[in-house]
Amino acid sequence: MPGMASPEREPDRWAWAEVDLDAVAHNVDEMRRRVAPSEVWVVVKANGYGHGAVPVARSALAAGATGLCVALVREGETLRQAGIDGPIMVLSEQPHDTLDRVLESRLTPTVYTPATVDAISSRATDECGVHLHIDTGMQRVGAHPDDAVAIARRIDAAPGVRLDGVMTHLAVADEPEHDANRIQLDRFDETLEALVAARGAPPHVHAANSAAALAIPRARRSFVRMGIATYGISPGPGVDQFVAGLRPAMRLVARVSHVKRVEAGSHVSYGWRHRFDRPTTVATLPLGYADGVPRRLGTLPDRPGADVLVGGRRCPIVGVVTMDQLMVDVGDLGAEVGDEAVLLGRQGDHEIRAEDWAERLGTIGYEVVCGISARVPRHHLGG
Ligand SMILES: Cc1ncc(COP(=O)(O)O)c(C=O)c1O
Repeated sequence: MPGMASPEREPDRWAWAEVDLDAVAHNVDEMRRRVAPSEVWVVVKANGYGHGAVPVARSALAAGATGLCVALVREGETLRQAGIDGPIMVLSEQPHDTLDRVLESRLTPTVYTPATVDAISSRATDECGVHLHIDTGMQRVGAHPDDAVAIARRIDAAPGVRLDGVMTHLAVADEPEHDANRIQLDRFDETLEALVAARGAPPHVHAANSAAALAIPRARRSFVRMGIATYGISPGPGVDQFVAGLRPAMRLVARVSHVKRVEAGSHVSYGWRHRFDRPTTVATLPLGYADGVPRRLGTLPDRPGADVLVGGRRCPIVGVVTMDQLMVDVGDLGAEVGDEAVLLGRQGDHEIRAEDWAERLGTIGYEVVCGISARVPRHHLGG
């Protein structure tokens, strides 16, 4: 930027995400206390929900998490390559041609089909602990409850495979009073009872995601699989009240890259979708939808654009967000090139949360933080 020295933290560009690892540690510690005696396994799939899987995993384990969960084999490998040594569970069955890598990286597979049990057994040299996923109503992955005992027996009979855990996943945990939770947990308990009668109890049983860990005590078993709460974000409006006491870990920050006065009656950005009804000052920020700031954040019908914090004030995004840049109405107090602008997180007395974007966009906080693209540098603080 002409005439402006970039601070060392963001040498590449004037937009970055700060990830507060002390907030991650705080959230893990807080949740451990809330769910005890259940343990906490932290879900770091999708690059730690966009926060950086390796640093988040390290902070979570240091704060007392006893295991990690990922979605993909390569996510587990990344953690192992970084020297992370705790249990790492892969949350769904993976293509069988990745199983050698699963075994080599000592990942814990989730299984729910006889074919996968056999495929692991045929490759295992040491004993591989697996978790049997029972589909009690999510209807995404998992063994039908009626098949659970047969698959558990198959695991018990398969050389090189050991049943380490039995799990299920709740579909409506973010509405704790919803009947689906009782129905799924009843099915889970009936299935567990049959399984225990047939071959004894597995070492671990788990059913709770963040929402269930927060709000459905019955779902907390040997451990909870905590994703979104790790990052200080609510799983959904139905459990917002339980998130008080957790701290958002991500701040999305940019520096003002250009400032200009605009006239009343003039327009801004593609499509001229925003018209200024008074003269004002517009600041440009160098990040856009290619960075994960949704194009429509500034132009939803009948409402001003989402706020950005500039100079400790709430300033609306004006016009459509473009691929690499967006514009903000900073009003007559103005702004200067190089000023800090906060899209997510706290500045002065104000805070903008992923949940605020989610509410505006008709989505969930998960999608907001997972959407912050790889192009945005992550700066990890604390930890
Ligand atoms: C099987 C399973 N368990 C746990 C989680 C973590 O969920 P949350 O982020 O709501 O805590 C996920 C995430 O989608 C999941 O798929």
